[in-house]
Amino acid sequence: MTSPASPMPDAVPAPQRKKLFIRTWGCQMNVYDSTRMADVLAPLGYGPAETPEEADMVILNTCHIREKASEKVFSDLGRLRLLKTEKEQAGQKMVLAVAGCVAQAEGAEITARAPWVDIVLGPQTYHRLPEMVARASRAAGAQIDTDFPVEQKFDLLPEVNANQGPIAFLTIQEGCDKFCSFCVVPYTRGAEFSRPVAAILAEARRLVAGGAREIALLGQNVNAWHGEAPDGATWSLSRLLYALAEIDGLARIRYTTSHPRDMDDALIEAHGRIPQLMPFLHLPVQSGSDKVLAAMNRGHKAELFYRIADRLREARPDMALSSDFIVGHPGESAADHAATMQLVEKVGFALAYSFKYSPRPGTPAAGQPFQVPEAEKDARLQELQAVLRRQQDEFNRACVGREVDILWTGPGRHPGQIAGRTPWLQPVHAIGPAELAGRIARVRLTAAHPNSLSAVLLEEKELTPA
Ligand code: SAH
Ligand code: SF4
Ligand code: F3S
Repeated sequence: MTSPASPMPDAVPAPQRKKLFIRTWGCQMNVYDSTRMADVLAPLGYGPAETPEEADMVILNTCHIREKASEKVFSDLGRLRLLKTEKEQAGQKMVLAVAGCVAQAEGAEITARAPWVDIVLGPQTYHRLPEMVARASRAAGAQIDTDFPVEQKFDLLPEVNANQGPIAFLTIQEGCDKFCSFCVVPYTRGAEFSRPVAAILAEARRLVAGGAREIALLGQNVNAWHGEAPDGATWSLSRLLYALAEIDGLARIRYTTSHPRDMDDALIEAHGRIPQLMPFLHLPVQSGSDKVLAAMNRGHKAELFYRIADRLREARPDMALSSDFIVGHPGESAADHAATMQLVEKVGFALAYSFKYSPRPGTPAAGQPFQVPEAEKDARLQELQAVLRRQQDEFNRACVGREVDILWTGPGRHPGQIAGRTPWLQPVHAIGPAELAGRIARVRLTAAHPNSLSAVLLEEKELTPA
């Protein structure tokens, strides 16, 4: 563990002379954290590197959610060892750090299996990174910090770098107290914490001033957010959404990831009342079987999910839903799987992520009897994914011919093309001027491809100002 208040790194040279490469796995919270780590290291002279080869410091921001995700870290560390040795032979230094949820869960294992790692730090201690870099450049041996410190990292991180582009992420909530049977997040991210209203609104205004037109509010349990307002009252997420909708220039708002248990009436209603709130919600259900939902400790039945889906669509008829599913949770029978298939058919999803249950060390489900055989998990996943893929294709094809607003994010893959997003998050490309980046313009959607839609721009006069 590091001591909380060692001096700032005086051994590190002046601005922008060093290069930092960050590789990010896992959820959008990790993506946000990676930008914050870059922010915290900028005053130490670290600017972005395109590749690990040209970097003076490499950070692997890791994910522990499934076994495969964790394994990738160790194979990457093997490759980086060679690079580090080559650099040392050429008289250069490379600081190697492992951050994120694998660092939190397996800090000791990382330093044992990969002693060439200089820094191991958990998601709650990024504000201590400069101090750790300074120590790593002075001392041999790994610096480990996987504390859940009493001070909040958000209070100690520098202000967010406002220039994130037209679509920005803003973490409003971290951690989870729900302890689903299969999930590592409560152990890697700690207890639920909500950032206060004033800090969130200030960060949102900064992002908008820096060019953001869309903000995605992030949290492991974002709709459980309950932040303190300046007058001492506690706001719920719906109240925060109304306040964000008042910010001039903020055209689109999203929030992710939500839990069905926390979809309260006011939040559902907000979808019908706030035009900036996009008609697309990621709401993981995991299973359609009440027996499995109980075994997962999800705290609700399938019926609640059906009701939420109906009410969201009543509030906002163009609402599209996305979800997460796990097949093969311990104890899942063929009949339970059939209930999941039924839920998918009944609700209909525009997008969904589905996974084979992966036993995670230390979680309750990992030790349960009646683990589902691998071959059975494979078969169930294939069956589920075939239906989800079909629904996604149908949703995308049904969009063809419609006129919709696109938030343009930058150049497309081919010359003369621009790329952007529909209100339902689908990637779109069209022939159009590069200056459209950061603006919203209307198109007619003309074709659906496997991962994107093509479109033609409608009249220029419909462009919104930058
Ligand atoms: N907070 C979100 C999800 C976070 S993890 C929620 O409450 O739903 C993202 C997704 O990974 C989960 O929704 C789940 O579908 C999947 N996942 C989590 N742990 C898993 C495990 N042990 N095996 C397989 N999939 C898992
Ligand atoms: Fe994991 Fe469940 Fe918490 Fe989501 S709600 S982060 S799945 S424990
Ligand atoms: Fe992965 Fe940690 Fe996010 S385990 S999904 S990076 S919270």
